[in-house]
Amino acid sequence: MDDYIANLNQEELFPDLLKFARQNKVPIINRDSLNLIKTYLYLFSSPKILEIGTAIGYSALHFALANPTAQIDTMERDAKMIEIAQSNFQKYDGNHQINLIPVDALEWDGWEKDRYQIIFIDGAKAQYQKFFAKYQEALEPGGLIITDNIGFHNLVGNDEKEKPKRIKNLVTKVENYNQWLKDHPQFVTTFFPLGDGLAVSWKVR
Ligand SMILES: C[S@@+](CC[C@H](N)C(=O)[O-])C[C@H]1O[C@@H](n2cnc3c(N)ncnc32)[C@H](O)[C@@H]1O
Repeated sequence: MDDYIANLNQEELFPDLLKFARQNKVPIINRDSLNLIKTYLYLFSSPKILEIGTAIGYSALHFALANPTAQIDTMERDAKMIEIAQSNFQKYDGNHQINLIPVDALEWDGWEKDRYQIIFIDGAKAQYQKFFAKYQEALEPGGLIITDNIGFHNLVGNDEKEKPKRIKNLVTKVENYNQWLKDHPQFVTTFFPLGDGLAVSWKVR
């Protein structure tokens, strides 16, 4: 059924980027998670989006195409990724909707309160809670913070699997983050078993 449903959705818009990511083992957003985020994007008029983790620009380019009124600030700290993303944006971001910010997201002071309607967290998993805590004030009340990979390859919530210590620590961090999100007094979060797991947190106040 997965393939049947996938075929009903729009065909791949950037097959060359997808191929590059696969060949070079660059992690990019899963198709189902992307489709859910695009559905939220359709609902906003002129949304400002902040993305943490650009990689080659695959998700940012999809967000731009999904909503031609959207403006996307996307942050990346890796020099090689910045170079590739810049080249992809030059090629495909014809409407100049995407602003690449070449920084470590935890060190950037350029954000403004209530600027964004959607924030997409897709950076280093160990830092999820720090990203969220730092940028939640940059999100307008009523906006969404969407976090990718909260299932961490099916490793979270699974004590039976033997894991190396480094992975175990990361799993604990992601599990703690999920619980923290669940209990957050300012946000209502829905956890979706899509792709590698996706959390959509709505800022109530
Ligand atoms: C999963 S990839 C992003 C994929 C991209 N969002 C997509 O779906 O096409 C994660 C990226 O986040 C970047 N990253 C990790 N931690 C970061 C940080 N603190 N600040 C900026 N970029 C970060 C990594 O260098 C990597 O390129």
